[in-house]
Amino acid sequence: MTEKRELIRNGKRANGREDDELRPIKITVGVLDKAQGSCLLEWGKNMVLAGVYGPREVFPKRDVDARKAILVARYVMAPFSGVEGHGRAGPNRRSREISKVAGHVFENVVLTEKFPKTMIEVQMEVLQSDGGTRIAAITAGVLALADAGIPMKDLPCGSGVGTIDEDNKRMVLDLDKYEDNLGKSDIPTILSPRTGEILLYQMDGYLTKEQLLEGLDKVQSKAVPRLREEMARALKEKYGGMAENGGVEQ
Ligand code: CDP
Repeated sequence: MTEKRELIRNGKRANGREDDELRPIKITVGVLDKAQGSCLLEWGKNMVLAGVYGPREVFPKRDVDARKAILVARYVMAPFSGVEGHGRAGPNRRSREISKVAGHVFENVVLTEKFPKTMIEVQMEVLQSDGGTRIAAITAGVLALADAGIPMKDLPCGSGVGTIDEDNKRMVLDLDKYEDNLGKSDIPTILSPRTGEILLYQMDGYLTKEQLLEGLDKVQSKAVPRLREEMARALKEKYGGMAENGGVEQ
């Protein structure tokens, strides 16, 4: 069980953040030697390492698609990533679900038809977790794909949004582990900034339609611009001016 803690103190978030404020984000691309693309992403206390392998020969062979590359995404938590009160790390039902939804996000932006009969693997390993790891892992995966030079329509990004107050009214951005575990609702959300398309939207809790729209608006207007800035900075650090648009196909 997650220990009982105050989430709101004197009307403010107990962790000191403003309602629209994200945790500190630090991104480094190209950290792995053996992967074609990689990223180490620190988001608050979350720490995720992502590696991209491919396009490479499909294995098992029966999965080959003559028209496009197949995308394989794998999210897993390291045994030391902070599993207290949560059962086991490693592959389980939750990690399979997150791998699947992450795969959908990547499939929506990667130009898979450019690499028929191949596979592209995106491996995401959570080294340390503190709420919002699926968002952090997908972000790291997107950056590892960009680092691998895989063409994409966009660099998807987003954050969690939800309620932590007793009245289930106030929408706050980027819930940490305690806010996520003890709060009323949480919606991990990933958008395609170019089109506004929603690529990940998983709801936990009860919210009104107005709150859902407010949450989406907060992700779009506050979280996405901040993420875009951090992602562009990380790619520019490695690739200079070439990374101005993150390798996004215009
Ligand atoms: O991480 P995310 O918010 O995407 O997923 P969650 O299932 O809502 O989990 C919230 C948090 O609980 C995680 O970020 C971890 O800090 C913690 N957790 C854990 O420590 N071990 C698990 N097996 C599952 C969750």
